[in-house]
Parts: sequence; C-alpha cells; structure tokens
Amino acid sequence: MKENILIDTHAHINSEKFDQERGKIITNAIENGIGGIINMGDTMESSQYVLELAQEYDICYAGVGVHPEEAFEMGKRDFDQLAIWAKNKKVVCIGEIGLDYYWEKDGEKRALQRRIFIQQLDLARQLNLPVCVHNRDAHGDTMEILKKEGRGIRGVMHCFSGSLEIARELVKMDWYIGVDGPLTFKNAAKLPEIVKEIPLERILVETDCPYMAPQPVRGKRNEPAYVRFVAEKLAELKGLDFETVQKQTTLNAISLYPRLEQG
Ligand code: NI
Repeated sequence: MKENILIDTHAHINSEKFDQERGKIITNAIENGIGGIINMGDTMESSQYVLELAQEYDICYAGVGVHPEEAFEMGKRDFDQLAIWAKNKKVVCIGEIGLDYYWEKDGEKRALQRRIFIQQLDLARQLNLPVCVHNRDAHGDTMEILKKEGRGIRGVMHCFSGSLEIARELVKMDWYIGVDGPLTFKNAAKLPEIVKEIPLERILVETDCPYMAPQPVRGKRNEPAYVRFVAEKLAELKGLDFETVQKQTTLNAISLYPRLEQG
C-alpha cells in the first residue's frame, strides 16, 4: 500500500443509502486519493455483505462483528461463522463491537451487550485479530472490560467521544483513537484539545459514512472521499502539513491492521 493515500478506516458503504451508487462512491474516493476503505459489519448479514464488497472491490476491506445496537444472544454457530469469514485476508478486524448505552437504557439488554462484547473480544484473541470498538455513553464499562478481558488484543476506539484521561489510558495500552466528522464541527467540545495532546502516531482517520459528515459537508450524506476533511482538520490542529498527517495516519492504519498490506 502506498503512503501518499488516505485510508478511511471506518465506513459503511454497504448501507442502503449507497444503493445504485456504490461504484460511483468508490470511484470518487479513488479520485480523491483514498487508497483503502474499511467497511464495518454490524450484524451477521452486513458482515457477510462487507466481505462480499471487499472481494468485489480492491480498495475495500472488511470488519466482521455484531454491533451493540444489534445485540442478540450469539451462539456457537455465529462465532464459528465469524471465524470462517475472518479467515479471508481482506477481513482486517473483528468490528464493530462494543457498548451503546445512549440508545439502550434497558438493564438486561445492556448486560447482553457486555456479554457479546466480551465473547467477541475472546474470538479476536483466538484469531489473533485486532478489534474496532464502538462506545457511546458507556466509557466506564467499556474501559473496564477492555482492561479485564482485552489482554493481548489491539484495537481502536472508533469515533472517540471520551475524556482526555481515557484517551491517555488507551495510548498507554497501545490502542488507537479514531476521529471523524465531529472533529471538524464548530461545537466539537473537547475533542480538538484531546487530539492536540495525543501523539499523531496513535490517531486513525475515519468517516463512519453515511453518518457524521464533516465540515464543509456537514448534514449531507457522508462518503469515504470526505475523510480528507478530517485529515485536513487534524493537520491544522497539530500544526503539521497535510502530507505528514496523510502519511502517518496511513502508517498507523497499516500498523493496527496489517492485512491492509496482505489482503
Ligand atoms: Ni460505524
């Protein structure tokens, strides 16, 4: 993989919002200097689909896993299936997995989220794959689980929304922090300050498209080409030129996800 490209490390171009336009979106990404798009599964069905996209398009890679908002009681067959998909070299991680207490208020369903989060961390360890973690309004439990159950696993806290203290803990654990559209928002709160404090070597850029479109396209449908706006903002905050940020964040992505170079 070349260094003069950007990688959108977290996308969902499998979304129905891209139906009929997927080819066009990919062409637009390539024309804008994007060299890799990692589409994250969130259900068993979408995990299969992001892998199909990865096989169809060179530029696409995949994460397979069950998202907390889609949590269900996973059985052996589900884990066996994830493991089979994960044998494919274009599957770079188990993801996206984690906890979402913003959308889920029910105590039992939150307990189910924790259970399948831990089970999928175990699967990642067995497969020797990194993880992509979704965490919304569940910082305490997410960090506790990662510390207790995440031994020997590397990963990224995607769409980072925690405190500087949590960011520092993740850096200590050799983890990465994923930043996307909100970094560019005028009401971005503490994220720009956190990004200034965290070494560039620990930051990944992502879109989370079709959601989270950055400035100047905020409110529109997001797409991988727009990861450039996130990288530009990161360069501005760090006082670095764009090429440095491009090169380093691509190296970071390859370091966390070695299959970007093998797949
Ligand atoms: Ni996502």
